[in-house]
Amino acid sequence: MEQSKWGSKLGFILAAAGSAIGLGALWRFPYMTAEHGGGAFLLVFLIFTLVVGLPLLLSEFVIGRASGRNPIDGFEYLGGKKGYRVLGWVGNIATMFLLSFYSVIGGWILIYLVVAGADLLNIMNISSYGATFNEVITNPLYALLGQASFMLLTAVIVGQGIQQGIERASKIMMPLLFILFVIIIIRSLTLPNAMEGVSFFLTPDIGGITTEAILFALGQSFFALSIGVTAMMTYASYLDEKQNLTKSALYIVLMNVTISIMAGLAIFPAIASLNVENAEGPGLVFVVIPEVFNAIPFGMLFYILFLLVFLFATVTSSISMIEINVANTIKGDESKRKKVTYIFAAIIFLIGVPSALSEGVLNDVVFFAGTIFDNVDFLVSNILLPVGALIASVFTGYIMDKRMAMAQVNVSDGSKYMWLFKTWIFMLKFLLPLIIIIVFIVNFTPGG
Ligand code: PHE
Repeated sequence: MEQSKWGSKLGFILAAAGSAIGLGALWRFPYMTAEHGGGAFLLVFLIFTLVVGLPLLLSEFVIGRASGRNPIDGFEYLGGKKGYRVLGWVGNIATMFLLSFYSVIGGWILIYLVVAGADLLNIMNISSYGATFNEVITNPLYALLGQASFMLLTAVIVGQGIQQGIERASKIMMPLLFILFVIIIIRSLTLPNAMEGVSFFLTPDIGGITTEAILFALGQSFFALSIGVTAMMTYASYLDEKQNLTKSALYIVLMNVTISIMAGLAIFPAIASLNVENAEGPGLVFVVIPEVFNAIPFGMLFYILFLLVFLFATVTSSISMIEINVANTIKGDESKRKKVTYIFAAIIFLIGVPSALSEGVLNDVVFFAGTIFDNVDFLVSNILLPVGALIASVFTGYIMDKRMAMAQVNVSDGSKYMWLFKTWIFMLKFLLPLIIIIVFIVNFTPGG
């Protein structure tokens, strides 16, 4: 059955950028940076994003549009063998685990919105946001309620069909996100001791880079660009031939890096300056940012605005995740969309329950990478996403027809960009698989 298409060129860019920009840049990047060495982490992350992420993003776009199908059917179609369907399944399953913990954080944002709203309306009186919010997210009932509401919100939007509304809303929300960040950064940078935080964030201590930090930086670069779970493939499958894929990929990488750095500049000076309790781990952004707003006139209003935009950025990412499952299942038959969406949302919610409880009642269950939440995140970001990325790389490099790939990036024989195309294919064939495999070997060799 024929798949539906994006409304316009801008529509695709906004949707793909919306998928990329989300918790990865705004929530995960700052605490990963804090945990894995500051400036050195930033540097490795930037290198991976440009050298590994960009070519891979393009390859997902190319696979997606060339196939014009959901990823599972698409791999079979382009590879010519039934066996390739399994590659699509990897993304399909990985994305369910991804959304299972992503929705926990999405739920926190919803809870914070309610709490901040209650404070603004004087229903509640909050003296320390950090402490209050911490209390709220450790409460199992609130955590689950938040997560369930977030999944419902995601499902309602995806159930409608993803084009409608997103395009229009993005045009307002994305610039607003940017402006709010500029405000936070200005306030953060003018706090006492701010420069200490800036230097932690921007000065790389090369000697301090650990192999573990490199693994996390790799995972973060995939996470932030939505690479490795066939999300970008799915979005690109709704494209017509007019869109320039190379430019779109560049544009998205640029926006994503900018937002990540802005998030760092907002957070690190504030950490250095304000003595905030629990300023670490997944709660970092949630306890530090409100304190910065606290130091701004009408801070509560701005904070609520910030949370709304934050929520929007998060939802535009979560919808791209569940869309993969929906696309793989409905195969273009839009009449099944609603039902399928709600079924997946329910399953993903259930998978996420242990993660949702891991800040609270299950907080003592700690193994390998940390809490249950940390472990699911580790499994997805540091293992499944790189494996998915490897698949996209090898598939485009070795299996997909080169002529078809050339057509997707508008290169023909004798064109002046042929060298770029060849470099890209070379990277996908050799360099990127090598990088991913080496990072894996170094990190997962017992005793290593
Ligand atoms: N890039 C999204 C974010 O940063 C997360 C994501 C990963 C979305 C993979 C889709 C696929 O929030």
